[in-house]
Amino acid sequence: MKTNHRIPLISPPQAKADILHLLHARDELQQHLFHSARQVRQQAGMALVKLRGVIEISNYCQKACGYCAIRPQNCTLERFRMDTDTIIAVAHDIASEGITTVFLQSGQDPKVDDIVCEAIPAIRELGVEVLLNLGEKSLSTYERYAAAGAGSYILKFETADPILHQQVICSPLSERLQCAEWIKQAGMQLGTGNIIGLPNQTVESVAEDILLALRMAPDFVSSSPFIPNEHTPLQDHPHGSLELTLNAIAVCRLLFPHALIPAVSALEKLEPDGQLRGLNAGANVMTINFTPKDLRDSYAIYSQGRFVVKLDHAHNTIARAGLTPGRPQPDVYLQKPANPMCGQTLDQLFPTRGTA
Ligand code: 5AD
Repeated sequence: MKTNHRIPLISPPQAKADILHLLHARDELQQHLFHSARQVRQQAGMALVKLRGVIEISNYCQKACGYCAIRPQNCTLERFRMDTDTIIAVAHDIASEGITTVFLQSGQDPKVDDIVCEAIPAIRELGVEVLLNLGEKSLSTYERYAAAGAGSYILKFETADPILHQQVICSPLSERLQCAEWIKQAGMQLGTGNIIGLPNQTVESVAEDILLALRMAPDFVSSSPFIPNEHTPLQDHPHGSLELTLNAIAVCRLLFPHALIPAVSALEKLEPDGQLRGLNAGANVMTINFTPKDLRDSYAIYSQGRFVVKLDHAHNTIARAGLTPGRPQPDVYLQKPANPMCGQTLDQLFPTRGTA
């Protein structure tokens, strides 16, 4: 691709201004950003798309996040919690499709802890890895999950703005960051990320999200557009910008070449082929929903009409992105700098930037 635009140098003093510039990219600069992100993904050995199979195991939740319909204040929702045997049976379905990551997700529900710790060893026997997203827990609970065989845990900080975090997530950002530390301390890989389009969130605040993610040095990172959800305080707030979310995905790929970055289902909810655009912006993960249909409708995280990703949709989307499913093989994973901003410019890290 010929272009006069040049991705600006991202170096520590300039980092925020450069990230902001890229987040605002449209038209030719945006295409160049996406192209650079795909090149970086390829060079990092991360251009195979990792498939995850998610089971939503409980919609009980202690939190009161303003965007989420599984908050306890929503009395319209029928609540469920799967038992160990059901979880293992669904995990079996995931493994028999050749999917190597079983992803257990739930509201923040202390009653799933024992169930999950009992299920994990049986799931591991299927020859798959276990990824969890169960909310804020104590260090000892994270240690129990890790000892049972969970390899990774996603805890999104959602927004790096402490005031907005308190307003929307209704608890301090510092508590969430402490939990993220504990997840690492327990020996699990960490996934984190943000939501784009929260009330009064500026593009500058999204740039701060990316800088916070850098400081956390996660193994996975995600950006998801806000989706207004019935029976929540934010039900009338407009959805997040697809373009800004795609730009955030691409910037994350530049800054985290070896990370797993999902093309989340919320992209597809905003626009047909939204997830295809996510892959084209540098993402390399798709999550297929294996929650049994009768329970899935009660797992109302992305509004009642959420887009449910099935296996054929994922395969189709991956093929149309010119990619193949598989386990990404990071080529320089062991040499990965703890924080790519430390002492190096992006041009030093990714010499092909700006030459597309
Ligand atoms: N819009 C966008 N993201 C949401 N999540 C939950 N509800 C919404 C919503 N309405 C995301 C949060 C959470 C993850 C499980 O789903 O980021 O961490």
